[in-house]
Amino acid sequence: MKILEITGGQKLSGTIRISGAKNSAVALIPAAILAETETTICNIPEITDTDNLCDILNNLGVKTKRASESIIIDSTNMQNQVINEEFSKKLRASYYFMGALLGKYKKVTMHFPGGCSIGARPIDLHLKGFEALGATVKKEENKYTVEADRLIGCPIYLDFASVGATINIMLAAVKAEGRTTIDNAAKEPEIVNVATFLNNMGARITGAGTSTIRIDGVKHLHGCFHEVIPDRIEAGTYTIIGALCGENLKIDNIIPEHIESLTSKLQEIGAKLEIGSDYITISRSENYKATNIKTSTYPGFPTDLQQPFSILLTQCNGKCKIEETIFENRFMQVPYLCQMGADISVKNQTATFIGPTKLKGKEVVATDLRAGASLVAASLIAEGTTKITNVEHILRGYENIVEKLTQVGAKIKREEI
Ligand code: UD1
Repeated sequence: MKILEITGGQKLSGTIRISGAKNSAVALIPAAILAETETTICNIPEITDTDNLCDILNNLGVKTKRASESIIIDSTNMQNQVINEEFSKKLRASYYFMGALLGKYKKVTMHFPGGCSIGARPIDLHLKGFEALGATVKKEENKYTVEADRLIGCPIYLDFASVGATINIMLAAVKAEGRTTIDNAAKEPEIVNVATFLNNMGARITGAGTSTIRIDGVKHLHGCFHEVIPDRIEAGTYTIIGALCGENLKIDNIIPEHIESLTSKLQEIGAKLEIGSDYITISRSENYKATNIKTSTYPGFPTDLQQPFSILLTQCNGKCKIEETIFENRFMQVPYLCQMGADISVKNQTATFIGPTKLKGKEVVATDLRAGASLVAASLIAEGTTKITNVEHILRGYENIVEKLTQVGAKIKREEI
């Protein structure tokens, strides 16, 4: 098991360069198999989620070559095979192979995806979308077979603006006959990044980034060169860390508009930040004002930043609340924060914070990716040393987190026990 040992109390200054977006990269890699020739994607983060997707590609006979931050994907000799549980359970995004293989071969068999246990996370909207396009879905225990004689474009309304369902339906519909319209589509920047990639391959998708996406099916898709957008959640996490213990900490290579819901909250509580064209510089302030946040789909406050932001709420004066509206089980950092000295109570989907509280180093567990990131943030301001176990969750989503934090002055060590 991997652990992190962090000694808090250091002021962090210097520059943290943000990597390519995990949630884009994990969709772009499966999407690349739709191309009939070689594709190059650059700015791919080196995280275990992207490694695990490459294992799936290799198992399907797809050639992959990593060269620094790029990946070259050549699916010329690939075969459509069952994606077994040992591969699918390693990450949530393995489900993008459903849409991609269905789009390419009109058939896919794979086991239910894994990922963080932050709620029930059903895939009914993905499957309903595939069915609307003309596919049948057969479920045997944990294994899904989705197949169609013909995929025919049609109007699809999503009951919820799901990121995964929107991307998966785009992947399945891109080579379907005629026009597919996704209404109440998710609007996250990652959707736009994936649609741009598919269009670079020859697809005809318009409206990505709005709630109506139109996809006119094409017969062939070709290889292309594409770049992953900067990771807005990684950027947000380090910006929050800057508000906790930064001294002119520069968060570089970002698209500030993508985290406006966060920066406006930071300004509201009294954080000192300068927003540039592709960076934010932030320092710790004293006497943060209390605030409330409610998570929602983009451009609202992202559920993925709720857990890191919770550390900042332990430092605000008075009573703060977080209402989590996307996932049912996303306060798993709270018991550990309470052990560290925070005053937080959770009722249903709302956490109430009374602050400010001093945090003390303890032994804590990273139960999921963003809970893990929040514990790193807490440890950086805690008195003494914190040991975080189950760090594998954090490494799934944050490239070189130890190196990035060490470079700006944090006392952080990674160990294997
Ligand atoms: C993606 C992100 C995740 C982020 C989330 C919300 C990836 C790999 N992960 O997850 O980091 O926290 O968006 O921004 O990009 N739902 C259904 N049925 C479905 C699909 C979703 O009920 O078929 C529900 C989910 O249980 C959840 C909500 O819709 O309550 C949002 O899920 P969704 O947007 O699909 O999130 P993911 O794609 O899993």
